Amino acid sequence: MATRVSIATKRSGKGDVKDPKLASKGESRIEWAARSMPVLTRIQARFAKEKPLAGLRLAACLHVTSETANLALTLQAGGASVALCASNPLSTQDDVAAALVDAGVPTFAIKGEDQATYYRHIAAVLDTAPHLTMDDGADLVSVLHKERRELLSGVAGGTEETTTGVIRLRAMAVEGVLAYPIVAVNDAMTKHLFDNRYGTGQSTIDGIVRATNRLLAGAVFVVAGYGWCGRGIAMRARGMGAVVVVTEIDPLRALEAVMDGFQVMPMAQAAPLGDFFCTVTGNTSVVREEHFRRMKDGAIVANSGHFNVELDLPALAKMAKARRPVRDFVEEFTLPGGKRIVVLAEGRLVNLSAAEGHPSSVMDMSFANQALASEYLAARKGDLEPRVHSVPREIDQEIARLKLAAMGARIDRLTPEQKHYLSSWQEGT
Ligand code: ADE
Repeated sequence: MATRVSIATKRSGKGDVKDPKLASKGESRIEWAARSMPVLTRIQARFAKEKPLAGLRLAACLHVTSETANLALTLQAGGASVALCASNPLSTQDDVAAALVDAGVPTFAIKGEDQATYYRHIAAVLDTAPHLTMDDGADLVSVLHKERRELLSGVAGGTEETTTGVIRLRAMAVEGVLAYPIVAVNDAMTKHLFDNRYGTGQSTIDGIVRATNRLLAGAVFVVAGYGWCGRGIAMRARGMGAVVVVTEIDPLRALEAVMDGFQVMPMAQAAPLGDFFCTVTGNTSVVREEHFRRMKDGAIVANSGHFNVELDLPALAKMAKARRPVRDFVEEFTLPGGKRIVVLAEGRLVNLSAAEGHPSSVMDMSFANQALASEYLAARKGDLEPRVHSVPREIDQEIARLKLAAMGARIDRLTPEQKHYLSSWQEGT
Protein backbone atom coordinates (compact mmCIF):
# COMPACT_ATOMS: atom_id res chain seq x y z
CA MET A 1 0.00 0.00 0.00
CA ALA A 2 1.26 3.51 -0.72
CA THR A 3 2.82 5.46 2.08
CA ARG A 4 1.36 8.85 2.80
CA VAL A 5 3.38 11.39 4.69
CA SER A 6 1.69 14.38 6.19
CA ILE A 7 3.99 17.28 5.36
CA ALA A 8 2.41 19.63 7.90
CA THR A 9 2.88 17.31 10.85
CA LYS A 10 6.27 16.13 9.67
CA ARG A 11 7.58 19.67 9.46
CA SER A 12 6.41 20.57 12.93
CA GLY A 13 7.94 17.39 14.38
CA LYS A 14 4.60 16.45 15.90
CA GLY A 15 4.22 13.18 14.11
CA ASP A 16 3.33 11.63 10.82
CA VAL A 17 -0.32 10.76 10.33
CA LYS A 18 -2.54 10.09 7.32
CA ASP A 19 -4.71 13.18 7.54
CA PRO A 20 -4.83 15.77 10.34
CA LYS A 21 -8.41 16.62 9.31
CA LEU A 22 -9.60 13.28 10.72
CA ALA A 23 -8.89 14.51 14.25
CA SER A 24 -12.45 15.35 15.34
CA LYS A 25 -13.72 11.88 14.33
CA GLY A 26 -10.82 10.38 16.26
CA GLU A 27 -11.65 12.48 19.30
CA SER A 28 -15.23 11.12 19.41
CA ARG A 29 -13.91 7.58 19.17
CA ILE A 30 -11.46 8.19 22.00
CA GLU A 31 -14.26 9.55 24.19
CA TRP A 32 -16.50 6.61 23.32
CA ALA A 33 -13.75 4.16 24.33
CA ALA A 34 -13.13 6.05 27.59
CA ARG A 35 -16.72 5.35 28.68
CA SER A 36 -15.81 1.64 28.90
CA MET A 37 -12.46 2.24 30.59
CA PRO A 38 -13.38 3.16 34.18
CA VAL A 39 -10.22 1.78 35.80
CA LEU A 40 -7.90 3.70 33.49
CA THR A 41 -10.05 6.82 33.90
CA ARG A 42 -9.66 6.62 37.63
CA ILE A 43 -5.90 6.20 37.32
CA GLN A 44 -5.84 9.17 34.94
CA ALA A 45 -7.56 11.36 37.54
CA ARG A 46 -5.03 10.34 40.22
CA PHE A 47 -2.10 10.81 37.83
CA ALA A 48 -3.33 14.32 37.01
CA LYS A 49 -3.07 15.23 40.72
CA GLU A 50 0.07 13.32 41.70
CA LYS A 51 2.17 13.58 38.49
CA PRO A 52 4.15 10.36 39.11
CA LEU A 53 5.76 10.55 35.66
CA ALA A 54 6.74 14.23 35.82
CA GLY A 55 9.67 15.10 33.58
CA LEU A 56 9.90 11.67 31.95
CA ARG A 57 10.01 11.08 28.21
CA LEU A 58 8.15 7.91 27.26
CA ALA A 59 8.44 6.24 23.85
CA ALA A 60 5.51 3.93 23.07
CA CYS A 61 5.20 1.44 20.21
CA LEU A 62 1.61 0.18 20.46
CA HIS A 63 -1.38 -0.47 18.21
CA VAL A 64 -2.68 3.07 17.64
CA THR A 65 -6.32 2.65 18.64
CA SER A 66 -8.88 4.61 20.65
CA GLU A 67 -7.94 2.54 23.72
CA THR A 68 -4.24 3.28 23.28
CA ALA A 69 -5.13 6.95 22.97
CA ASN A 70 -6.71 6.82 26.42
CA LEU A 71 -3.54 5.24 27.78
CA ALA A 72 -1.37 7.92 26.14
CA LEU A 73 -3.56 10.65 27.66
CA THR A 74 -3.29 8.98 31.07
CA LEU A 75 0.52 8.91 30.88
CA GLN A 76 0.49 12.52 29.71
CA ALA A 77 -1.77 13.45 32.65
CA GLY A 78 0.85 11.83 34.88
CA GLY A 79 3.45 14.30 33.62
CA ALA A 80 5.14 12.22 30.90
CA SER A 81 5.99 13.52 27.44
CA VAL A 82 4.69 10.69 25.29
CA ALA A 83 5.68 9.90 21.67
CA LEU A 84 3.83 7.09 19.93
CA CYS A 85 4.36 4.88 16.88
CA ALA A 86 2.50 1.82 15.60
CA SER A 87 3.42 -1.72 16.65
CA ASN A 88 1.97 -3.13 13.42
CA PRO A 89 1.76 -1.57 9.93
CA LEU A 90 -1.95 -2.39 9.54
CA SER A 91 -3.46 -1.75 12.99
CA THR A 92 -3.52 2.07 13.10
CA GLN A 93 -6.80 3.95 13.38
CA ASP A 94 -5.90 7.01 11.30
CA ASP A 95 -8.52 9.28 12.88
CA VAL A 96 -7.28 8.43 16.36
CA ALA A 97 -3.67 9.11 15.31
CA ALA A 98 -4.72 12.56 14.06
CA ALA A 99 -6.60 13.30 17.30
CA LEU A 100 -3.56 12.33 19.35
CA VAL A 101 -1.37 14.80 17.48
CA ASP A 102 -3.95 17.49 18.31
CA ALA A 103 -3.85 16.41 21.94
CA GLY A 104 -0.10 17.00 22.07
CA VAL A 105 1.08 13.40 21.64
CA PRO A 106 3.51 13.23 18.69
CA THR A 107 2.20 10.20 16.79
CA PHE A 108 3.94 8.46 13.91
CA ALA A 109 1.51 5.94 12.43
CA ILE A 110 -0.38 5.46 9.16
CA LYS A 111 -2.59 2.46 8.47
CA GLY A 112 -1.02 0.43 5.65
CA GLU A 113 2.44 1.97 6.01
CA ASP A 114 5.18 -0.02 4.32
CA GLN A 115 8.06 -1.70 6.15
CA ALA A 116 10.46 1.23 5.61
CA THR A 117 7.93 3.74 6.99
CA TYR A 118 7.14 1.45 9.94
CA TYR A 119 10.81 1.46 10.95
CA ARG A 120 11.23 5.17 10.17
CA HIS A 121 8.39 5.80 12.63
CA ILE A 122 10.07 3.70 15.31
CA ALA A 123 13.27 5.70 14.72
CA ALA A 124 11.33 8.97 15.06
CA VAL A 125 9.95 7.94 18.44
CA LEU A 126 13.42 6.86 19.61
CA ASP A 127 14.77 10.26 18.53
CA THR A 128 13.01 11.67 21.62
CA ALA A 129 15.70 9.92 23.76
CA PRO A 130 13.21 8.19 26.07
CA HIS A 131 13.56 7.48 29.78
CA LEU A 132 10.86 4.78 29.57
CA THR A 133 9.78 2.50 26.71
CA MET A 134 6.39 0.84 26.19
CA ASP A 135 6.29 -1.88 23.59
CA ASP A 136 3.85 -4.35 22.04
CA GLY A 137 5.89 -7.08 20.35
CA ALA A 138 9.37 -5.74 21.27
CA ASP A 139 10.22 -4.11 17.93
CA LEU A 140 11.06 -0.79 19.64
CA VAL A 141 13.32 -2.49 22.19
CA SER A 142 14.93 -4.57 19.45
CA VAL A 143 15.77 -1.49 17.30
CA LEU A 144 16.98 0.36 20.39
CA HIS A 145 19.38 -2.45 21.30
CA LYS A 146 20.55 -3.10 17.73
CA GLU A 147 20.77 0.37 16.17
CA ARG A 148 20.47 3.08 18.81
CA ARG A 149 22.73 1.85 21.60
CA GLU A 150 23.85 5.41 22.41
CA LEU A 151 20.38 5.95 23.93
CA LEU A 152 20.45 2.91 26.23
CA SER A 153 22.17 4.63 29.17
CA GLY A 154 19.28 7.09 29.41
CA VAL A 155 16.56 4.44 29.62
CA ALA A 156 15.41 3.59 33.15
CA GLY A 157 12.91 0.87 32.26
CA GLY A 158 10.20 -0.36 29.98
CA THR A 159 7.01 -2.38 29.72
CA GLU A 160 5.89 -5.05 27.27
CA GLU A 161 2.27 -5.73 26.35
CA THR A 162 2.17 -9.05 24.58
CA THR A 163 3.16 -12.73 24.72
CA THR A 164 5.40 -12.54 21.63
CA GLY A 165 7.25 -9.52 23.00
CA VAL A 166 7.80 -11.15 26.39
CA ILE A 167 9.25 -14.25 24.66
CA ARG A 168 11.69 -12.05 22.69
CA LEU A 169 12.70 -10.09 25.80
CA ARG A 170 13.28 -13.25 27.84
CA ALA A 171 15.55 -14.48 25.03
CA MET A 172 17.48 -11.19 25.26
CA ALA A 173 17.76 -11.54 29.05
CA VAL A 174 19.01 -15.15 28.74
CA GLU A 175 21.68 -13.98 26.27
CA GLY A 176 22.63 -11.23 28.73
CA VAL A 177 21.96 -8.42 26.25
CA LEU A 178 18.88 -6.79 27.79
CA ALA A 179 20.20 -3.42 28.96
CA TYR A 180 17.39 -2.27 31.30
CA PRO A 181 14.49 -3.71 33.35
CA ILE A 182 11.23 -4.46 31.58
CA VAL A 183 7.91 -5.24 33.23
CA ALA A 184 5.98 -7.99 31.44
CA VAL A 185 2.46 -6.55 31.50
CA ASN A 186 1.27 -9.60 29.54
CA ASP A 187 2.00 -11.83 32.52
CA ALA A 188 -0.38 -9.99 34.86
CA MET A 189 -3.52 -12.05 35.48
CA THR A 190 -5.68 -8.98 34.86
CA LYS A 191 -4.07 -8.83 31.41
CA HIS A 192 -3.81 -12.27 29.85
CA LEU A 193 -6.82 -13.96 31.47
CA PHE A 194 -9.10 -11.30 30.02
CA ASP A 195 -7.41 -9.48 27.11
CA ASN A 196 -5.83 -12.58 25.52
CA ARG A 197 -8.88 -14.77 26.09
CA TYR A 198 -12.03 -12.65 25.87
CA GLY A 199 -10.47 -9.77 23.92
CA THR A 200 -8.80 -11.89 21.25
CA GLY A 201 -11.76 -14.28 21.23
CA GLN A 202 -14.31 -11.60 20.39
CA SER A 203 -12.18 -9.30 18.22
CA THR A 204 -10.83 -12.12 16.05
CA ILE A 205 -14.30 -13.39 15.23
CA ASP A 206 -15.28 -9.75 14.66
CA GLY A 207 -12.39 -9.25 12.19
CA ILE A 208 -13.13 -12.43 10.26
CA VAL A 209 -16.85 -11.68 10.06
CA ARG A 210 -16.38 -8.00 9.12
CA ALA A 211 -13.91 -8.95 6.37
CA THR A 212 -15.93 -11.83 4.89
CA ASN A 213 -19.56 -11.51 6.08
CA ARG A 214 -19.59 -15.33 6.12
CA LEU A 215 -21.72 -17.47 8.43
CA LEU A 216 -19.81 -19.42 11.06
CA ALA A 217 -22.71 -21.67 12.06
CA GLY A 218 -22.10 -25.15 10.71
CA ALA A 219 -18.64 -24.27 9.36
CA VAL A 220 -15.43 -26.03 10.40
CA PHE A 221 -13.18 -23.52 12.17
CA VAL A 222 -9.57 -24.56 12.77
CA VAL A 223 -7.71 -22.75 15.58
CA ALA A 224 -3.92 -23.23 15.62
CA GLY A 225 -2.62 -22.83 19.18
CA TYR A 226 -4.47 -23.29 22.46
CA GLY A 227 -2.84 -20.62 24.60
CA TRP A 228 -5.07 -17.95 26.16
CA CYS A 229 -5.80 -16.42 22.74
CA GLY A 230 -6.57 -19.78 21.14
CA ARG A 231 -8.84 -20.73 24.02
CA GLY A 232 -10.77 -17.49 23.53
CA ILE A 233 -11.15 -17.89 19.77
CA ALA A 234 -12.17 -21.56 20.05
CA MET A 235 -14.76 -20.69 22.72
CA ARG A 236 -16.28 -17.87 20.69
CA ALA A 237 -16.24 -19.78 17.35
CA ARG A 238 -18.13 -22.59 19.08
CA GLY A 239 -20.57 -20.00 20.44
CA MET A 240 -21.28 -18.93 16.86
CA GLY A 241 -22.15 -22.53 15.95
CA ALA A 242 -18.92 -23.59 14.26
CA VAL A 243 -17.45 -27.07 14.59
CA VAL A 244 -14.09 -26.20 16.15
CA VAL A 245 -10.85 -28.09 15.53
CA VAL A 246 -7.72 -27.26 17.56
CA THR A 247 -4.11 -27.93 16.53
CA GLU A 248 -1.34 -27.84 19.15
CA ILE A 249 2.28 -28.91 19.74
CA ASP A 250 2.05 -28.90 23.56
CA PRO A 251 0.53 -32.11 25.02
CA LEU A 252 -0.94 -30.37 28.10
CA ARG A 253 -2.67 -27.70 26.08
CA ALA A 254 -3.85 -30.30 23.58
CA LEU A 255 -5.28 -32.38 26.44
CA GLU A 256 -7.06 -29.33 27.81
CA ALA A 257 -8.56 -28.67 24.37
CA VAL A 258 -9.78 -32.29 24.16
CA MET A 259 -11.42 -32.03 27.59
CA ASP A 260 -12.90 -28.65 26.66
CA GLY A 261 -14.74 -30.63 23.99
CA PHE A 262 -12.78 -29.70 20.85
CA GLN A 263 -11.44 -32.03 18.18
CA VAL A 264 -7.64 -32.03 18.29
CA MET A 265 -5.49 -33.17 15.37
CA PRO A 266 -2.36 -32.21 13.40
CA MET A 267 -2.67 -29.37 10.89
CA ALA A 268 -2.09 -31.79 7.99
CA GLN A 269 -5.27 -33.63 9.03
CA ALA A 270 -7.23 -30.44 9.71
CA ALA A 271 -6.24 -28.81 6.39
CA PRO A 272 -8.78 -30.61 4.16
CA LEU A 273 -11.58 -30.15 6.74
CA GLY A 274 -11.45 -26.44 7.55
CA ASP A 275 -13.63 -23.67 6.13
CA PHE A 276 -11.80 -21.12 8.33
CA PHE A 277 -8.26 -21.27 9.75
CA CYS A 278 -6.88 -18.90 12.36
CA THR A 279 -3.34 -19.03 13.79
CA VAL A 280 -2.49 -17.77 17.28
CA THR A 281 0.70 -19.66 18.15
CA GLY A 282 3.44 -16.98 18.18
CA ASN A 283 5.45 -19.31 15.95
CA THR A 284 6.44 -19.28 12.30
CA SER A 285 5.07 -21.23 9.26
CA VAL A 286 2.29 -22.92 11.18
CA VAL A 287 0.22 -23.06 8.00
CA ARG A 288 2.54 -23.77 5.08
CA GLU A 289 2.73 -25.20 1.56
CA GLU A 290 1.86 -28.79 2.53
CA HIS A 291 -1.29 -27.49 4.25
CA PHE A 292 -2.37 -25.01 1.54
CA ARG A 293 -2.13 -27.89 -0.97
CA ARG A 294 -4.63 -29.96 1.03
CA MET A 295 -7.19 -27.22 1.74
CA LYS A 296 -10.67 -27.04 0.22
CA ASP A 297 -11.47 -24.62 -2.57
CA GLY A 298 -12.36 -21.28 -0.91
CA ALA A 299 -10.77 -21.99 2.47
CA ILE A 300 -10.37 -18.76 4.45
CA VAL A 301 -7.05 -18.27 6.24
CA ALA A 302 -6.28 -15.64 8.89
CA ASN A 303 -3.77 -14.90 11.64
CA SER A 304 -4.40 -13.26 15.00
CA GLY A 305 -0.91 -13.79 16.43
CA HIS A 306 1.41 -10.81 16.76
CA PHE A 307 3.51 -11.33 13.60
CA ASN A 308 2.40 -12.30 10.09
CA VAL A 309 4.91 -15.16 9.87
CA GLU A 310 2.44 -17.76 11.21
CA LEU A 311 1.09 -18.21 7.68
CA ASP A 312 3.77 -18.97 5.08
CA LEU A 313 2.44 -16.43 2.61
CA PRO A 314 5.62 -16.24 0.51
CA ALA A 315 5.13 -19.98 -0.16
CA LEU A 316 1.45 -19.42 -1.05
CA ALA A 317 2.40 -16.57 -3.39
CA LYS A 318 4.91 -18.84 -5.12
CA MET A 319 2.38 -21.66 -5.46
CA ALA A 320 -0.33 -19.37 -6.87
CA LYS A 321 -0.78 -18.72 -10.55
CA ALA A 322 -2.87 -15.62 -9.78
CA ARG A 323 -3.88 -13.41 -6.88
CA ARG A 324 -6.42 -10.62 -6.60
CA PRO A 325 -8.12 -8.54 -3.93
CA VAL A 326 -11.83 -9.43 -3.70
CA ARG A 327 -13.00 -7.21 -0.81
CA ASP A 328 -11.31 -4.95 1.73
CA PHE A 329 -8.79 -7.10 3.63
CA VAL A 330 -9.64 -10.18 1.52
CA GLU A 331 -7.20 -11.51 -1.08
CA GLU A 332 -7.75 -14.61 -3.18
CA PHE A 333 -4.87 -16.82 -4.35
CA THR A 334 -5.62 -19.23 -7.22
CA LEU A 335 -3.49 -22.38 -7.39
CA PRO A 336 -2.62 -24.07 -10.71
CA GLY A 337 -5.51 -26.59 -10.51
CA GLY A 338 -7.99 -23.72 -9.99
CA LYS A 339 -8.36 -24.06 -6.21
CA ARG A 340 -8.75 -20.72 -4.39
CA ILE A 341 -7.25 -19.92 -0.98
CA VAL A 342 -8.51 -16.72 0.66
CA VAL A 343 -6.15 -14.76 2.93
CA LEU A 344 -7.41 -12.07 5.29
CA ALA A 345 -5.58 -8.83 6.12
CA GLU A 346 -2.29 -9.88 4.48
CA GLY A 347 -1.86 -12.38 7.30
CA ARG A 348 -1.50 -9.55 9.83
CA LEU A 349 -3.48 -9.48 13.09
CA VAL A 350 -6.97 -9.89 11.67
CA ASN A 351 -8.64 -8.47 14.77
CA LEU A 352 -6.81 -5.14 14.54
CA SER A 353 -6.53 -4.93 10.75
CA ALA A 354 -10.06 -5.85 9.67
CA ALA A 355 -11.80 -4.80 12.92
CA GLU A 356 -10.90 -2.51 15.84
CA GLY A 357 -8.94 -4.79 18.16
CA HIS A 358 -10.10 -5.79 21.60
CA PRO A 359 -13.08 -3.95 23.06
CA SER A 360 -12.31 -1.05 25.38
CA SER A 361 -13.59 -2.69 28.55
CA VAL A 362 -10.93 -5.39 28.33
CA MET A 363 -8.15 -2.99 27.27
CA ASP A 364 -9.13 -1.03 30.40
CA MET A 365 -7.36 -3.64 32.52
CA SER A 366 -4.41 -4.18 30.17
CA PHE A 367 -3.71 -0.47 30.01
CA ALA A 368 -4.31 0.06 33.73
CA ASN A 369 -1.42 -2.42 34.11
CA GLN A 370 0.67 -0.38 31.65
CA ALA A 371 0.01 2.87 33.50
CA LEU A 372 0.70 1.42 36.94
CA ALA A 373 3.79 -0.47 35.72
CA SER A 374 5.18 2.83 34.36
CA GLU A 375 4.56 4.47 37.72
CA TYR A 376 6.30 1.51 39.42
CA LEU A 377 9.34 1.85 37.15
CA ALA A 378 9.47 5.63 37.57
CA ALA A 379 9.51 5.26 41.37
CA ARG A 380 12.38 2.73 41.19
CA LYS A 381 14.67 4.38 38.67
CA GLY A 382 17.97 2.48 38.72
CA ASP A 383 16.88 0.03 41.45
CA LEU A 384 15.74 -2.87 39.30
CA GLU A 385 17.98 -5.40 37.58
CA PRO A 386 18.05 -5.46 33.76
CA ARG A 387 15.77 -8.47 33.28
CA VAL A 388 12.10 -9.22 32.69
CA HIS A 389 10.05 -8.43 35.82
CA SER A 390 6.51 -9.44 36.76
CA VAL A 391 3.79 -6.93 37.47
CA PRO A 392 3.65 -6.81 41.30
CA ARG A 393 0.78 -8.88 42.68
CA GLU A 394 -0.65 -5.86 44.54
CA ILE A 395 -1.09 -4.01 41.24
CA ASP A 396 -2.85 -7.00 39.67
CA GLN A 397 -5.16 -7.36 42.68
CA GLU A 398 -5.91 -3.65 42.83
CA ILE A 399 -6.88 -3.60 39.14
CA ALA A 400 -9.19 -6.61 39.67
CA ARG A 401 -10.78 -4.87 42.68
CA LEU A 402 -11.33 -1.62 40.76
CA LYS A 403 -12.75 -3.47 37.74
CA LEU A 404 -15.17 -5.46 39.91
CA ALA A 405 -16.31 -2.27 41.64
CA ALA A 406 -16.81 -0.55 38.28
CA MET A 407 -18.89 -3.51 37.10
CA GLY A 408 -20.99 -3.37 40.27
CA ALA A 409 -19.86 -6.82 41.44
CA ARG A 410 -19.15 -7.28 45.15
CA ILE A 411 -17.26 -10.13 46.77
CA ASP A 412 -17.03 -11.71 50.22
CA ARG A 413 -14.24 -11.11 52.76
CA LEU A 414 -12.62 -13.78 54.90
CA THR A 415 -14.05 -13.99 58.44
CA PRO A 416 -11.48 -14.06 61.29
CA GLU A 417 -12.28 -17.78 61.71
CA GLN A 418 -11.56 -18.45 58.03
CA LYS A 419 -8.30 -16.46 58.16
CA HIS A 420 -7.20 -18.52 61.14
CA TYR A 421 -8.22 -21.79 59.42
CA LEU A 422 -6.15 -20.94 56.33
CA SER A 423 -3.04 -20.28 58.43
CA SER A 424 -3.27 -23.39 60.63
CA TRP A 425 -2.46 -27.06 59.96
CA GLN A 426 -3.92 -28.81 63.04
CA GLU A 427 -7.56 -29.00 61.95
CA GLY A 428 -8.38 -31.98 59.73
CA THR A 429 -11.37 -34.29 59.24
N1 ADE B 1 -4.36 -5.08 21.18
C1 ADE B 1 -5.49 -5.76 20.93
N2 ADE B 1 -6.56 -4.94 20.89
C2 ADE B 1 -6.08 -3.68 21.10
C3 ADE B 1 -6.70 -2.40 21.17
N3 ADE B 1 -8.01 -2.25 21.03
N4 ADE B 1 -5.90 -1.36 21.41
C4 ADE B 1 -4.57 -1.52 21.55
N5 ADE B 1 -3.94 -2.68 21.51
C5 ADE B 1 -4.69 -3.77 21.29
